[in-house]
Amino acid sequence: MTIPSVLGISGSVTRPSRTTTLVSAVLDAITARTPVRPRLVELVDAGPTLFSALTSDKLQGSAAEIVRAVETADVLVVGTPVYRASYTGALKHLFDLVRYDALVGKPVVLLATGGTPLHGLVAEHQLRPLFGYFNTLTVPTTIYAIETDFRDYRLVNPAIADRIDRVVTEVVTLLGADTATAFGPAAAAHNLPAALSA
Ligand SMILES: Cc1cc2nc3c(=O)[nH]c(=O)nc-3n(C[C@H](O)[C@H](O)[C@H](O)COP(=O)(O)O)c2cc1C
Repeated sequence: MTIPSVLGISGSVTRPSRTTTLVSAVLDAITARTPVRPRLVELVDAGPTLFSALTSDKLQGSAAEIVRAVETADVLVVGTPVYRASYTGALKHLFDLVRYDALVGKPVVLLATGGTPLHGLVAEHQLRPLFGYFNTLTVPTTIYAIETDFRDYRLVNPAIADRIDRVVTEVVTLLGADTATAFGPAAAAHNLPAALSA
C-alpha cells in the first residue's frame, strides 16, 4: 500500500504567518490520525522562484518541482491570508501555473485567516470556486481564523481546534473512499464518476 502524500500550501507572503500556523496545524492533525507523507510549501519562500515563471512553459528547477508536487499530491491543504477580500496574488500565481486537468478528484482542504470576521466566508466565495474550476473534491468544512484566534502566532481558540478535528475526519474518510478512482481523470474522461458507471 502506498502512503498518501499531503501537501500543505501557505499563501502568506510574510513570516511569521498565522496562515502557516493554521496550515501546519491541519497537516499535523492529519498526520496524527492516519499514515501520510506530509510536506509544507510556504509561498514566502517559494514565491520568488515561482514568480520568475509567468507561464508554465517557463518553469525550471525548484519552481517546476513545486508545481509538480502540487499536481501529484494525493491531498492538498490550501491556506491563504485574506488580501483585499480574496486570496493572495501569490497563491493565484501558483495555481495559474498548475495544469488545468491535474487536480481532478483530488481532496482539497480550504483554510483562510483574516483581520476581520466580516470576511469569514472567503473560503466559500473565493477559494471554493477556484478549486471548482480544477474539478477537485473540496472538503465540506472550511476554517477561517482571525487574529484574535492566535497568540504569538499560536492557535489559542478551542473552536478552531474543533473545526480542525472535523476537517481531519473528512480527509480521512475521503482517503478511505479511493476518490482517485471514483472522481479522478479516468472517470472525468467519461464525464461520470467511475462508481456510477459500473
Ligand atoms: C495587503 C493586505 C490586505 C489585507 N486585506 C484584508 C481583508 O480584505 N480582509 C481581512 O479580513 N483582512 C485583511 N488583511 C489582514 C490579513 O488577512 C490578516 O492579518 C492575516 O491573518 C495575515 O495572515 P499571515 O499572518 O499568514 O500573513 C490584509 C492584510 C494585508 C497585508
